[in-house]
Order: sequence, then structure tokens, then C-alpha cells
Amino acid sequence: MTGRTTLTIVLAAGEGTRMRSSMPKVLHPVAGQSLLAHVLGAAAHGDGAALAVVVGPDHQTVADEARRVRPEAGVYVQAERLGTAHAVMAAREAVAEGYDDLLVAFGDTPLISAETFARLRAPLAAGAGLAVLGFRAADPTGYGRLLVEGGQLSAIREQADASAAEQAITLCNAGVMAFDGRIALKVLEQIGNANSKGEYYLTDAVGIVHALGRDVVVIETGEDEVRGINTKAQLAQAEQVMQARLRQAALDAGVTMIAPETVFLAADTTFGKDVTIEPNVVFGAGVSVGDGAVIHAFSHIEKAAIGARASVGPFARLRPGTSLGDGARIGNFVETKAAMIEAGAKVNHLTYIGDAHIGAHANIGAGTITCNYDGFDKHKTIIGKGAFVGSNSSLVAPVKIGDGAYIGSGSVITKDVADNALAIGRGQQTARENWATRFRDAKAAAKAARK
Ligand code: UD1
Ligand code: CA
Repeated sequence: MTGRTTLTIVLAAGEGTRMRSSMPKVLHPVAGQSLLAHVLGAAAHGDGAALAVVVGPDHQTVADEARRVRPEAGVYVQAERLGTAHAVMAAREAVAEGYDDLLVAFGDTPLISAETFARLRAPLAAGAGLAVLGFRAADPTGYGRLLVEGGQLSAIREQADASAAEQAITLCNAGVMAFDGRIALKVLEQIGNANSKGEYYLTDAVGIVHALGRDVVVIETGEDEVRGINTKAQLAQAEQVMQARLRQAALDAGVTMIAPETVFLAADTTFGKDVTIEPNVVFGAGVSVGDGAVIHAFSHIEKAAIGARASVGPFARLRPGTSLGDGARIGNFVETKAAMIEAGAKVNHLTYIGDAHIGAHANIGAGTITCNYDGFDKHKTIIGKGAFVGSNSSLVAPVKIGDGAYIGSGSVITKDVADNALAIGRGQQTARENWATRFRDAKAAAKAARK
């Protein structure tokens, strides 16, 4: 696609009422990323590529998401939802800048790939006026049908306007179209709203491009890539397709998974070499896993960086802001949040570490809790390198434990502890010799006397 300039317009102004959600449709997540972010990620990058997103008038959150994902994107508001062609015209100003190619994609079709966008653009360079992405639907209900005559696409018929014979057609409109930029505006301006819904249908472009004497071609792709999401059931199907892709990519990259079908990945999860993931692990967004790390079964991980040869779980929960150094160990029933756990440190059992820094090779005993919250603010716990925290200790933040220090088991630590000191904060142990014998004898005698 050398030297051709391209504008991609992503339509994201739909109400998505069939999602039965208070959240705009295109912000629903698939593999930890919004539908919109997936589409924007696949749209063209680099020299000569521009991006526009059309959002609804009451959808500031959609505009924010577009700007977060692609800061360079132009955001346009479609004041009234009068159909897909009307939505494109909300970005008229961008179209009028005159690009070689104009691509229109839907924000509710998240599985589309960059390769398919490129494949759709190719016929324009060869002289076509319009290229439409099509697919064979297992169940075409609800999709626009592609009417092909003599090898040319003659029209796209929306479900509501299709005759019984047309409804039997399974070749459907995927929703992505590529226009020759020199005719795009002229074509869009001619689209009317004389149909059963009274909407301006982008699909009417087909007939208009024909009338200009230009070729209209169909590029086919697989159904999985172009599933449009109108309902929660379709959202769940897209998730399945995306998970299958991500698992395959992880396996191809050398990740060992015993039961890949039970591992849930995010679109941005990254893995080093020789990583092993046991069954039933869930990755939220923003996780990186270093070389040789092992994630044991039933762990849940979000926005966390896992160092090389670290070990996590089974049954660990790493929350946002967790960072594990090389060879660090997080064991069962351990929760971490905003915690930097340096190389070789061990937090092996039944522990909460939040808002904390744990030095290299420190050992945190079973049942240790960082008491980071006073009901109003969060406070930090700092534990020095090589420190040893005895089991069942409460570290009341803000508090600092020095390098190499020892904390006696069962302590409640409220004051800083110096390097290499021993701190014990618990009741003194006392013992009374033979107390138990005397107690039992007295009780037995009293019981015998009652008989
Ligand atoms: C559309 C196509 C249909 C195709 C199907 C593929 C038209 C007329 N129909 O139908 O041929 O088979 O997609 O999934 O193009 N949108 C706006 N503003 C509007 C209306 C829609 O921005 O006024 C956006 C929506 O946010 C959505 C996209 O356009 O991202 C498609 O709209 P939707 O209502 O989902 O169209 P479908 O009925 O699915
Ligand atoms: Ca749709």
C-alpha cells in the first residue's frame, strides 16, 4: 500500500440498547480491552494514515477512550443517530481533506485484523471505486445481505428491507468498507433515507458507486473475524474467539500451558521465554511475565509485572501495581496491591501486602498483614532487604522495618524497627508449673461430690 494516504473512520455512536447496559456498547471489554480499543488497534498506523472516531452526543466516555487509545485520532460527534452513512458524515470535515482511501469500520466489530483492513484497501489501488468486506454467516439474521450479480456486488439489503428470497442469502456485509477517496464525499452526499427505518444507510453507497460507473468488489473473510456485537451473548462469543487466538499466540510464543482452554488472557499480556501457566489462571489487563516464571493454578493477576523465574500461586491474587523481582515467590492465599517485592523475597502463605516495598530476599511469614488503611488514607509499609517477619504479624502503616531485622511472630508493629534489630510486640508469655494438673484435679473432685 505504498504511498497511499488513508483515513479510517470508526463509527461508535450507536446506542447499543440490546446490550441492556448503562455503559455505551463499544466500551464493553473483550480480553480486557474495550471493543473500540480493539478496532482502533487494528486501524492503520504510520505515515499517511489518519483516524477519526464518531461518537454519540452523550458519550464523553467513548471520546475519552478513543483519545486514550489513539491520541492522534480526531473525535467527531454525531448529534442525532440517523444511521451509519449519517454517522460517517459527522466526520465530513476529515473526509473533505481528501485521502486516497477512505475506510469505514464499526466500533462494535472488535475481532477485525490489520491484515484484513489492508486486504480491503488493495482493490482501490487497482482502480475499484468501493470494496466491501463480506463473510458467509452461519445465521445471517440481522446482517445486511450482499446481492451479487455477474460477479459484481449490486446492492446490500438490510434485514428489515429484504424479501424472503433475499433473506435466504448467507453472504453478508461485515460492516467494513473502503472507498476511493476521490469519490467518497460525492457518494456519501447522495445517500438518502428512503427505507423502512428512515435511516441513512452506508450500504446504499453500493448502488451510487455503480451509477458513477465504478467497480464495486467484495473481499471475503471468515465469520469469526467480523462478528458484530449487538448483544451480551455476542459479546461472550467474541470473547471466546479472542481467547482462542490469544492462547494460540501464547503457545506459538513458547508458553507452556497444561490446560490452555482454562487460562484467560488479556490482549496485552506479554510473556518471556519458558513461562509455565498452570490451569485456571486469569490475566486482567496490563500483565507482563518474565522468563522462566511459573504461574500456579487458580491465580488472578491484573496490572502486574512478574520478574524472571518468579513463582506465583496457587491461589494468589496480584492486584494493580504489583511488581515482582527476579525469583520472588508469592504463595497460596496471598493478596498483593501496589507492592514492589524485590528479587528473591518470599511471601508464601496467607498474607496481604498492600502499599508496600519489600526488600530483596526478605521472608514474610504466614499470615502477615500490612495494615495500610486507617479508614481515610492509605499508608506505606517498607521492609528492608533480608528482613524476617514472623508469622501472624500485623504491620501498622506507615511503618518501616530495617534491613536484616527480625519481627517476632504474632507481633503488632506500630513503630519503625532499626536494621538488624529484633522487635516483638505481643503479650509476654507466662507459665505456672503444674497449674493444669491442679485445675483438672479440682474439677474432677467437684464433679464427684455432685453425684
Ligand atoms: C450494520 C450494517 C449491516 C451489517 C452489520 C454488520 C448498515 C446500514 N448496516 O448493521 O449491513 O451487516 O452492520 O455488523 O450499515 N452507528 C453510529 N451511528 C448511527 C448508527 C450506527 O455510529 O446512527 C454505529 C454503531 O455504533 C455501530 C455501527 O455504526 O458501531 C453499526 O451500527 P449497528 O446499529 O450496530 O448496525 P447493524 O444493524 O448491526
Ligand atoms: Ca452491529
